[in-house]
Amino acid sequence: MLRPLIAGNWKMNGRRADGIALASELARRTRRAGGAELTRDLLICPPATLLVAVAQAIADSPVSLGAQDCHSAASGAHTGDVGAPMLADVGCRYVIVGHSERRANHGESDQLVNAKAAAAHAASLVAIVCIGETEAERNDGTTLAVVGRQFAASLPASAAPDNTVIAYEPVWAIGSGRVPTEMEIAAVHDHLRTLARSRAPGGERLRLLYGGSVKASNAAGILAIANVNGALVGGASLNADDFWAIACSCP
Ligand code: PGA
Repeated sequence: MLRPLIAGNWKMNGRRADGIALASELARRTRRAGGAELTRDLLICPPATLLVAVAQAIADSPVSLGAQDCHSAASGAHTGDVGAPMLADVGCRYVIVGHSERRANHGESDQLVNAKAAAAHAASLVAIVCIGETEAERNDGTTLAVVGRQFAASLPASAAPDNTVIAYEPVWAIGSGRVPTEMEIAAVHDHLRTLARSRAPGGERLRLLYGGSVKASNAAGILAIANVNGALVGGASLNADDFWAIACSCP
């Protein structure tokens, strides 16, 4: 079985004191859990303003640090953006790219997401590449075609199981409290596993996360689905008890 990854996406939330308190609490729990943390990877992705403070708060703990986005260029005249090498420099190991909120709010295309993932790889970061269908696409019965197209177009040639994670997040399930059935999640993840296997050798080692309204109450069922190798958690990652309960729900 692949080692599960439980990733928290804090989105645009938190001031220094909140972020430090939440990160410190998670670090404390992982340290106290002794060997238990070895069964899954725990990751938090705070907003860019908190990366340095959170890196300090989780230092010497098994909790990893990630960012929520990066530019496709390493550096340069890109006002307001952050390059992947800058994220690595402050202690990030991961970066989320292509989240549906960025695709929708910033017009990010598969092509741009592909370039951002390549930039992450060039900076030795693990890219968490997000894909997922809209409600209209699900109702049209095109979910597998949509995620298949996004998978193929958003992954750069450099993508490999060691530097890439896929997060399947149905757009309509994000922040809505609505979750696909376990059979619906399984159908998409099985399809993604088939695509991963046919894309490159070692595709069975590519971690496939589910995201969209994951909570302590539904995590165990979701994480037990074949080919679900973890979760990308938004709202519930802002509370230490909830996020910890999800992390402890891995089979
Ligand atoms: P949610 O967000 O858990 O609040 O639905 C998930 C995400 O957007 O990554």
